[in-house]
Amino acid sequence: MKILLFGKNGQVGWELQRSLAPLGELVALDADSRELCGDFTDPDGLIRTIRAVAPDVIVNAAAHTAVDKAESEPELVRAINALAPAVLAQEAKRGNAWLIHYSTDYVFDGHGEKPWRETDATAPLNVYGATKLEGEQLIQQVGCKHLIFRTSWVYGAHGGNFAKTMLRLARERDSLTVIDDQIGAPTGADLLADVTAHAIHTAQQRTELSGLYHLVATGETSWHGYASFVIDFARHVGIPLKIAPDAIKAVPTSAFSTPAQRPLNSRLDTTKLQSTFGLTLPVWQNGVARMLTEILDSGK
Ligand SMILES: NC(=O)c1ccc[n+]([C@@H]2O[C@H](COP(=O)([O-])OP(=O)(O)OC[C@H]3O[C@@H](n4cnc5c(N)ncnc54)[C@H](OP(=O)(O)O)[C@@H]3O)[C@@H](O)[C@H]2O)c1
Repeated sequence: MKILLFGKNGQVGWELQRSLAPLGELVALDADSRELCGDFTDPDGLIRTIRAVAPDVIVNAAAHTAVDKAESEPELVRAINALAPAVLAQEAKRGNAWLIHYSTDYVFDGHGEKPWRETDATAPLNVYGATKLEGEQLIQQVGCKHLIFRTSWVYGAHGGNFAKTMLRLARERDSLTVIDDQIGAPTGADLLADVTAHAIHTAQQRTELSGLYHLVATGETSWHGYASFVIDFARHVGIPLKIAPDAIKAVPTSAFSTPAQRPLNSRLDTTKLQSTFGLTLPVWQNGVARMLTEILDSGK
């Protein structure tokens, strides 16, 4: 099997380089790749690349993920999150390849408390969510074989993440204020990459599995709960912290003003993915503890 991976240096792309390697020959690109074009603002370059590589599977881990910045550059975000994925879909269809793509809980408006199912109505609140939704729809309209995984609150040991920011602030400050009315599931880039590899392997000869799936770790928390877990873990393993145990203050989203509005309910129902692919998704605390062990051991 020949796999072409775009966005190889992002959180998910980095882990995919590891998890996809055993499936076959892997060609991995980012926006700066020289010999082959991996730049999502260059559709002709993407077409040339895909025709030159002639992959069996295209995996798209590239995206414009800066949610607040996206509000001020919607055309660029649309080019990267919607129009480029449509080009990948057209080329996948032309070459009878699978397209694997990632989307987001931000396609929903976040009302209510029920976990969103794949069939629920979408209503994005911001430019990032709207362009990710358009990307999904364009892929579906092209009709290539595809797996679209909607996920949320992604972290990786590689690169910056929320947990690393909380650890730094807990070393520097006496107190912290963290939002407690946005609810979701922190999901490891390693889990996404491992499930992706399993799903590609399973779907290879089964085109009927083509479709949209929700993929997040099990359980739920708020950003405040997530921060508290990270700081408790660090304290438990003996990391010196300035912050007192009771000094992580919970505040509503309205306490911070940001350019992009964010959904309050980011819960995703993963029943379809777990039953289709025969998987049991682990609780979010497992992956976060593992990532913390990795970054605290290596002093990152
Ligand atoms: N992060 C989250 O919390 C989250 C939540 C839900 C869904 N998702 C989805 O999950 C997928 C993977 O996200 P991630 O967290 O791994 O994101 P990430 O760490 O921001 O990685 C995105 C990658 O895309 C690359 N990229 C940006 N502009 C590009 C361009 N013009 N051409 C080619 N590559 C470009 C980035 O390169 P540079 O760094 O060089 O710009 C980066 O390597 C995305 O589809 C995202 O929408 C993420």
